[in-house]
Amino acid sequence: MSILFNENNQQFHIQTKNSSYIFCVSDFQALEHLYYGKRIPQDDVKYIGNRQIYSHLGYESRDKRDFSASVLGMEISPFNAGDIRVPSVVYNYDGKVDCNRLRYRSHTIYEGRQPIDGLPYSRVSAETETLEVVMSDDENTVEFTLYYVVYADVDVIARHQTIKNKGTMSLSIQKFTSMCVDFYGSDFDAVTLEGIYLYEKAHVSRAPIKRGIFKNNSLTGTSSHNHNPFLALCEHNADEDKGEVYGFNLLYSGNFSGEVSVNQLGDTRVLTGIDDTGFCWTLKSGEELTSPEAIMTYSDQGLGGMSRNFHDHIRQNIIEKEFAFAPRPIVINSWEASYFTVSEDKVLALAETAKDCGIDMVVLDDGWFRPHDKMGLGDWRTIKDKFPSGIKGLSEKIHAMGLKFGLWLEPEMVNEDSELYREDPKCILSTSRLPLISRSQYVLDLTRDDIVERIADRISEELEGAQIDYIKWDFNRYLTEAGSYTAAQGEVYHRQMLGAYKLLSILKQRLGNVLFETCSGGGGRFDLGMLFYSPQIWTSDNTDPYARVYIQYGTSYAYPVSAISCHFTEGECTSGRPSSYDFRYRVAAFGSYGYELDLSKYGAEDRAAFKSYSEQYRKDEDLNLNGDLYRLISPESDKFCAYIKVSKDKKKALFTFLELNATGFIECMTLRLKGLAPEKLYRNEETGEILYGATLMNVGIRIGDLYRKKREDGYMVAFTAVEE
Ligand code: GLA
Repeated sequence: MSILFNENNQQFHIQTKNSSYIFCVSDFQALEHLYYGKRIPQDDVKYIGNRQIYSHLGYESRDKRDFSASVLGMEISPFNAGDIRVPSVVYNYDGKVDCNRLRYRSHTIYEGRQPIDGLPYSRVSAETETLEVVMSDDENTVEFTLYYVVYADVDVIARHQTIKNKGTMSLSIQKFTSMCVDFYGSDFDAVTLEGIYLYEKAHVSRAPIKRGIFKNNSLTGTSSHNHNPFLALCEHNADEDKGEVYGFNLLYSGNFSGEVSVNQLGDTRVLTGIDDTGFCWTLKSGEELTSPEAIMTYSDQGLGGMSRNFHDHIRQNIIEKEFAFAPRPIVINSWEASYFTVSEDKVLALAETAKDCGIDMVVLDDGWFRPHDKMGLGDWRTIKDKFPSGIKGLSEKIHAMGLKFGLWLEPEMVNEDSELYREDPKCILSTSRLPLISRSQYVLDLTRDDIVERIADRISEELEGAQIDYIKWDFNRYLTEAGSYTAAQGEVYHRQMLGAYKLLSILKQRLGNVLFETCSGGGGRFDLGMLFYSPQIWTSDNTDPYARVYIQYGTSYAYPVSAISCHFTEGECTSGRPSSYDFRYRVAAFGSYGYELDLSKYGAEDRAAFKSYSEQYRKDEDLNLNGDLYRLISPESDKFCAYIKVSKDKKKALFTFLELNATGFIECMTLRLKGLAPEKLYRNEETGEILYGATLMNVGIRIGDLYRKKREDGYMVAFTAVEE
């Protein structure tokens, strides 16, 4: 049992492999948070809440200063209910507040978990256990259910909540986070992943939190290229390997917010959920609303330990089981090869050469239903002149060549120049005027079920009978002036996300056992919400390998490498900066591997090189799918980047060292490896040298020993455990 309830002291203790999360039903039936951190025994820790109440604060008892929500940890904290800190929920009842103080009513503990209807969630595993706690106000008109779903083996607790209107008047909700965690003290740094289009998650931002509010959020209707729902709090001296770290993330792809506030006592509150800007949701009598799911983890093994907990949880419990650990197809994608000039002949030519390069799948990107980006989205009609056999015919031809077939879609959008928009100009998200245009397109109003169904039907009809193995699902603009002709304004952004998830689910179901790769102009929706539907995500439109090193390394803080889609592309790709083949391969082999270049331009020698890269990737792929990542040198040093992937049984490891700047004399540099078994002997497959894991991890390796190869190519060295 990982969820324990002690009747005597009314204390809940959630115990994972290495962490404890403790709260209790306290006096006045509040749900008082007591502790989150390293695993401890089943002691009564209620004493930690014996805190002085100071002047001006409100307290529950009329006679003595004995209980004030303002100085105690709270599992849920409504606005205007006695806690003066940043609230986790804000609501009122028909414009009035009677009493928002919430009281514990009941709880249940059970094995397994319930799915969350219409939203992504962590899937059930053999060990999953759930605690539900029901709370309500004094009049029993507003009821909350707080869910704690425990994944003890990976040290993850998933949380979400439901609010129900049990009264007769309407309930208006202005803020509804997924999770609240209070810490006594504030000796933390906050870590977030910052970026921009073409440089997503490339800056791992870390700064001490101060009194006041730190907010990491997105108002773009997507999780965005700029910020990411991932947020960590760590001790000031925590590093990759040691120190306490708390990681948080959200299974959601729309407007989100991670708020860290430090109050006058120096206590810290962390909130994660839907951003409340412009949010206002009305529940009629009997209706309820469920928040997205947040996940949290604790590690005393530094940021590396936190990442590995998240990687394991995401692979085991968020990504669909049939894809999570299965080898991924090595794709050739048509985008950087042909852009909008793609045609059946060109795709077949790509397929012909792909076979010589160890490629498994040809992906037809944008351009099959439109000649440029100003038309066609929403209609999904194949251009017959360019694709005379249609998508069905082309997919059959590709399959006949022994390859798989993938297709690009952007179902949530419509071009102004489309039948759909001409017929129903109200099909888009807009206010009383036309919204700003972006990439010549608008966002479809997916709060409308008829639009969701119409798009799903149109795409299913167009692809009827086609042999599709993979879908690249794109989303190429942010939401602006998002209003709807049918949904209430304060509900639009969230309803839009619910509609998007619905459309994804319908098309996934209709297309059968298809691998989805989501994308949003690269990594604009690289989040756990999308990973629930798509085992991998296109990481960035920036395919310059030097830039990719930063982007991919940053992304790995929160997401497993197998989810990070990486392609070997033309040398002068996005940036015009040249790079060697080996360097490009080594960077792209960080995640799920593929190609994106015009193969017809490359002769037999190049194709042989591509084939050997594909074979090498296949040989090492298991480390991506099942192994552990240890980051060694951050590219933010601006000199090098290094990491090692180690199999769970510690028998195999793959070390990568990439030089980003010609920094001069690095022959003398030594680097200590990580993650190996100290007692095992490992053969360095490059030098043949055999040393103990303990030696490699303490004395280290000499980078100069790898110098027999070219420095600008980087080094990728396998270590294999040998019998003594
Ligand atoms: C986005 C994607 C690219 C490509 C284009 C096609 O920018 O990120 O990979 O699919 O759209 O229009």
